[in-house]
Amino acid sequence: MDSSTSGDRWWHGAVLYQLYVRSWLDADHDGYGDLPGVIAGLDHLSWLGVDGIWLSPTMPSPNQDWGYDVSDYLGVHPDLGTLADLDRLIAEAGKRGMRVLLDLVPNHTSSVHPWFMDASSGRDSAHRRFYVWADPGPGGGAPNNWRDATGGPAWTFDDRSGQYYLHNFMYTQPDLNWWEPAVHDAFREIIRFWLDRGIAGFRIDVAHGLYKDAKLRDNPPLNDHNQLAGHFDLKFVYNFNRPETHGVYRDWRAIAESYRPPRLLLGETWVEDLARLASYHGQGDELQLTFNFPFIFAGFTAGELAGVVSQTLAQLPAGECPVWTASNHDVGRFPTRWCGDDERKTRLALLVLATLPGTAVLYYGDEIAMTDVDVPPGLQRDRMTLRGRGERGNRDRARTPMPWDSSASGGFTTGYPKPWLPLGDNAARNVADQCEDKSSTLWFCRRLLALRRAELGGRVASYQQLPSPPEQWIYRVGALTVAANFSAEATAPFDPGGEILLYTGGILRGSPGRITLGPWQAVIARGTGTGAAAS
Ligand code: NOJ
Repeated sequence: MDSSTSGDRWWHGAVLYQLYVRSWLDADHDGYGDLPGVIAGLDHLSWLGVDGIWLSPTMPSPNQDWGYDVSDYLGVHPDLGTLADLDRLIAEAGKRGMRVLLDLVPNHTSSVHPWFMDASSGRDSAHRRFYVWADPGPGGGAPNNWRDATGGPAWTFDDRSGQYYLHNFMYTQPDLNWWEPAVHDAFREIIRFWLDRGIAGFRIDVAHGLYKDAKLRDNPPLNDHNQLAGHFDLKFVYNFNRPETHGVYRDWRAIAESYRPPRLLLGETWVEDLARLASYHGQGDELQLTFNFPFIFAGFTAGELAGVVSQTLAQLPAGECPVWTASNHDVGRFPTRWCGDDERKTRLALLVLATLPGTAVLYYGDEIAMTDVDVPPGLQRDRMTLRGRGERGNRDRARTPMPWDSSASGGFTTGYPKPWLPLGDNAARNVADQCEDKSSTLWFCRRLLALRRAELGGRVASYQQLPSPPEQWIYRVGALTVAANFSAEATAPFDPGGEILLYTGGILRGSPGRITLGPWQAVIARGTGTGAAAS
């Protein structure tokens, strides 16, 4: 990887922001965030220094899985606004130098999508082959041993047509059949429809899915408990990661590249193996960006995180761009998961995320160190985990409204109706208060992103890990040196190798040239770090 600039690959060195639309800002005061709310909040994002926004699902849906069950791929959910609102959002974001990505769900539809309504009307229906149907297995049961995301069989019997249909998530989310050429045609049209409207690209849901084994063979047992490798004691072998899926991305990449600037395909690649992750980049002709779940699930230690980073960079084909993120609407918020709600650790994690080479993705609220919220059972809204058999924690904890201020409704909505999910402790942490306080995490994050844009923007910077004691991670990225102390002890004095540009907090102790990092502190310097922290 080199430090040359990346031309029209605007996401190189950029910061994307995942915005869970229902929870961001409610402009029409119905208790749900919406697209006019996103527009109203754009100045916050441009002030923060964001380059692109990924909107959680915006398409019409019966919301069994909050938009990940699409019933119309060419529309906007009425709860969230209209197509005109989305057009206005693209234009307003563009005026502020930000691009907009949509969430595209090609692995499955809603069971009320007209394609599935037709497909389930009879074996001769026009859309029958859009979905995966199979005859009962021996004894009349499910066709194979696959489980869905709730832990039940991944197959539901359809009385009308006498066959089972496949659903890897919930029975209301039938899997599409990518062996059917008409499904490819339909998605090419969907993709062009949005790209022609000025959408900058897509986050692709279940990007490791799509094709299923043609023989629908049983999955083998899962011998470890790696949630990326399988679930409910079965390894994902025949229901995900099929080789034919790569052809879909080569096709979509050609479409993306036919636009100027090229459009972006960012995959939700839920895979445990970094070589497999890299395979979704193809020869630089498939997905441009792939979410790195081994990084997300790594322990919060210098050794584990630095190890995943080195292995990722070693696996990616030359010139490809890695992605670093730590929170999302499924896995929870890193200030809680990694940092145990300790803001020193959160700043350290933000500093690392923003100084690794490639693309950084923040989740809404990361910038104020927003933590998971303990949503009481009676207020939980995530059906998948409510139905589930406990392997996945409740996901509502990371989907609660953005706390804009300390008022009763958090500045997210007015008082009535109540927000769709409860606010956390918005008096303790909110945007307005942190804006007033230049020592806040919000201001720290803003300075960090400005520094990143100036020093690492527009390129995939070079990266080199430097020698360091076990609980420290020192690396050179572009012309910067980063030193991060993943320990509850202060470091020995060391020379970060140049001018200090940013520090996670407190008072930096040390004589000129030599500094000491306190517990969970990190620093960015411009210069040739020596990695001499052990001395
Ligand atoms: C991944 C999405 O992020 C998650 O929220 C959803 O439930 C599944 N895919 C199914 O679409």
